[in-house]
Amino acid sequence: MKQLTSWLREQHLALQRNHIDRQRRTIDSSNASIVRVDGVLCQNFASNDYLDFSRDKRIKNAVVNSLNSHTWGAAASPLIAGRTDLHESLEREIATFKETEAAMLFPTGYATNVGTISALMGAGDTVFSDQKNHASIIDGCRLSRATTVVYPHCDMDALRTALQRASLQGKRLIVTDSLFSMDGDIPPLPTICEIAEEYGASVMVDEAHATGVFGSRGSGLAEQLNCHHRVAIQVGTLSKAVGSLGGFVAGSQELVDWLFNRARSYVFSTSPPPALCAAALCALKLITDEPFRRIELLEKAERFREMLAAEGFSTGDSHSQIVPIRLGEPQITMRWSDALLARGFLVPGIRPPTVPRGESMLRVCLSWAHQQSALDGLVKALCDLRETDPLRK
Ligand SMILES: Cc1ncc(COP(=O)(O)O)c(C=O)c1O
Repeated sequence: MKQLTSWLREQHLALQRNHIDRQRRTIDSSNASIVRVDGVLCQNFASNDYLDFSRDKRIKNAVVNSLNSHTWGAAASPLIAGRTDLHESLEREIATFKETEAAMLFPTGYATNVGTISALMGAGDTVFSDQKNHASIIDGCRLSRATTVVYPHCDMDALRTALQRASLQGKRLIVTDSLFSMDGDIPPLPTICEIAEEYGASVMVDEAHATGVFGSRGSGLAEQLNCHHRVAIQVGTLSKAVGSLGGFVAGSQELVDWLFNRARSYVFSTSPPPALCAAALCALKLITDEPFRRIELLEKAERFREMLAAEGFSTGDSHSQIVPIRLGEPQITMRWSDALLARGFLVPGIRPPTVPRGESMLRVCLSWAHQQSALDGLVKALCDLRETDPLRK
């Protein structure tokens, strides 16, 4: 019989041997772009606070005001007594923002994907899921017990073939991130919609990293690529560009009515605090009123990718504020990440199991708040590292 303690010890040693054990840092943050890590001030390239909303005074004031009129905790799940007027207003605003009939709020983006997919799909149904979809989509597929066909990343021929070959029984759902969180690349959403329409499937798009950043109204890539009305289920999170916490689904009234009856991560979880809804309501208004943030962020990202390319660094297919620098092995990735931190740049190393073996990378997340001098400094530090690190010669 194996003891849990010895199993844990062995597992941890194996993680260390493979250079994929993780450490948690405590961050002292007052600003999206500059943080203090272990007492050292550094430029933060690890944040999803793309529009610099997490410290915005207007949002903080909205939170404080809501605390004068509402309890801090929601104190119950939404179907019992946890859905306040602020939750209801936020759901209505999200539906308007996404141009759908209805929307509903979940505790997190993770809970949104897991609850939505498992409530909609079941044994006898088929989900077609991009190979690089977020873990919460993968877990939702597993929990649903539907047949899951994983198609190669953004490969539209493979997706079409998979639909041609799939069982004609049951429902069909194609699910994809709209902006892939590790590579910063964008799938061809209009083609996905065309294939879905041809083969009788519905489309679910996770706009976690695109909400607030893409689209003329800032609602995401489905809007930017003019296919949001062809997407049955639009998922998003309030925890990235919106600067807060929580997830949501936007779609038809029938979809939302079903989900609030059947999505277990919604029904059996306490509602988010009302203050969180007040923050998100304020942030959604700012996304509408201040488009310059997303425009400048994407211009900055494009300049940054050009600077890296000029120095011979590949950023893959990134077309967004998420810029990967692929180094391959976890050991060198972590060495570079540590060396960058020592020079005042917080850039996380991403290793298996988050990415496949051989695809370890530094992931640079840009924020509207970053100054050009910080980007210049990071590119210079990367060039210096390449000169001195023997594995890269
Ligand atoms: C594509 C995608 N979907 C969902 C999530 C989960 O969102 P949350 O952090 O709000 O749980 C993430 C978070 O990293 C994500 O990248």
